[in-house]
Amino acid sequence: MHYYKLGDIPAKRHTQFRKPDGKLYSEQLFSTEGFSNMYSLIYHCNPPTQIVQVGDPVDITPEKIDDKQLKHRSLRGCQVEPEQDYLKSRKPVLVNDDCQLILAAPQQGNRDYYFKNADADEVIFVHVGSGTLRTMYGNLKFGYGDYLVIPRGTIYQMDFDGSDNRLFIIESFGPVTTPKRYRNAFGQLLEHAPFCERDIRKPSDLETYDEKGDFKLFIKKQNNLYPYHYLNHPFDVIGWDGYVYPFAFSIHEFEPITGRVHQPPPVHQTFDGNYFVICSFVPRLYDYHPLSIPAPYNHSNIDSDEVLYYVDGDFMSRKHVERGMITLHPGGIPHGPHPGTVEKSIGAKETKELAVMVDTFRPLLLTETAAQIEDPDYFLSWTENGAPKGEILMSNITS
Ligand SMILES: [Fe+2]
Repeated sequence: MHYYKLGDIPAKRHTQFRKPDGKLYSEQLFSTEGFSNMYSLIYHCNPPTQIVQVGDPVDITPEKIDDKQLKHRSLRGCQVEPEQDYLKSRKPVLVNDDCQLILAAPQQGNRDYYFKNADADEVIFVHVGSGTLRTMYGNLKFGYGDYLVIPRGTIYQMDFDGSDNRLFIIESFGPVTTPKRYRNAFGQLLEHAPFCERDIRKPSDLETYDEKGDFKLFIKKQNNLYPYHYLNHPFDVIGWDGYVYPFAFSIHEFEPITGRVHQPPPVHQTFDGNYFVICSFVPRLYDYHPLSIPAPYNHSNIDSDEVLYYVDGDFMSRKHVERGMITLHPGGIPHGPHPGTVEKSIGAKETKELAVMVDTFRPLLLTETAAQIEDPDYFLSWTENGAPKGEILMSNITS
């Protein structure tokens, strides 16, 4: 991230900064990795520490199933039931100690409470729906194809324009950053990066509520939701500056890197996590060597699990791949194009596919929710006579 400022701040940090009535604003240092990494300085109308009450926590630990199955798995993501409440709608499906992959179909935002994830940075991929992410740093409008990157500790509300929303959420227990190889020593995105600072949308419309009352905030910590009641409005910030803030990046702004022959998955990398990566597969021209094979080669992912979340594109017309579908190709067994797709891909000029990939270096476990929406025969789908029956075609995304 890079330096940004919104609202009013004093000329020098840690000095007197007063309201029109002469009272001091409350300065808050929002720092990461102790004092050793990026931070922001936030100026509140009132202290952010005044607790009225704390209720009993609600345990939201994902119900993992360890079924000792080394198999390719597939989940029908759009079969996750919509829920009215934003937090209740968030259903983890694949989890490990580094990240949780969550599907959510919220019918409403959380306008009557606030939320803070103290466990994890969040990357919310907006598959269906639009609205406004309201935060203490200001507001961000979002829509189809946006990644909303929310640093842990950010107090926020989701405000949806309608009731039909589909989100793919990645909770990251380590920091989410842009890939280091795309940044220079000063943090600037380099010329060969598939996106640059202009593509990153920062918060705007800082709304400042100098109000007292009873403000309910759910804090997620160690997989519990703690109901806090604060005296002061959580969005009482008059200004802030620094490097830590939520931002939006649209998958449609990702500029694909293409070549004469098949490019490896790292060219699609968008974000870096701790022991996992997030990649964007976007519409692009296929390889242009005269003998090129656009379909990917078979791939032995020796030491990573590969998850694809299918957003939109060519696969819509193909059997067994549908919007919102998730595939998990675990490390240890190879995967690749489905029967017939290699020959069929030759001569193809472009793909319209759109997908998000999460590759983890430690194995993922399914949850009870995942088991309910699993296609149990997916692992047989590379064998023409295997189940499921019929023509089995797959997006060329298979990485
Ligand atoms: Fe792969």
